[in-house]
Amino acid sequence: MDETEYDGPRHRRVGLVRRVGCLPLLAAALVSTLLMVITVKMLESPTLWRSAPAQGLAWPDTIPVPTGPEPTEWPTEQPIEPPPTPTDVPPPPQTLKYEAEDASVWRGAVESNHTGYTGSGFVNYENTSGSFVQWTFDAVRPGRVTVRLRYANGTPANRPMDIVVNGQVGSAGLPFEATGAWTNWRVRAVDVDLSAGANIIRVVAKTSDGGPNVDYLEIRY
Ligand code: GCU
Repeated sequence: MDETEYDGPRHRRVGLVRRVGCLPLLAAALVSTLLMVITVKMLESPTLWRSAPAQGLAWPDTIPVPTGPEPTEWPTEQPIEPPPTPTDVPPPPQTLKYEAEDASVWRGAVESNHTGYTGSGFVNYENTSGSFVQWTFDAVRPGRVTVRLRYANGTPANRPMDIVVNGQVGSAGLPFEATGAWTNWRVRAVDVDLSAGANIIRVVAKTSDGGPNVDYLEIRY
């Protein structure tokens, strides 16, 4: 048998394999070339990727602002007042009354033989200097308050007394003038400074006549 007859088909098979093996490379090269061509064309073509100015359209120089009437005046700002806090609200006024017959008495007596008093009676000061009525109480709040003393003086003579607040003479020799009768009652007002908490007000007769008859002490806060 001739060897070339056998070699022929083998050579043809080898050539076919080689040719088929080149096809993918050729296809890839073709596709790559096509893609490159398309890319170059796109970059060169303004209609494909450039925007309006490249197509002959002009960009607007300014952005149009809606027209309308200009505000002639801005509204003035109104200050906002904070709501008052509880500490800003003054407490309601109040009056507290302390009867003389319920207080401490030095050289005096609780009596009720002259009408017009409040409570159960009044204090008759002994006719001696230094006799006193003393009230101890808790202040509603510290500070200056008006104290009112209701009294009767059936004599024609003034019966002055000291107003002593927590050991300090607040008012010395405060006059308690005649009221015309022991049944005529009058109020003497005087301002004093109270401390926070407990306070002591002592009302001391300054003459040997002693004090007037005293009905009560009242404090107005
Ligand atoms: C009279 C009066 C008393 C008064 C006394 C006085 O006695 O009846 O109420 O206290 O005089 O001078 O103080």
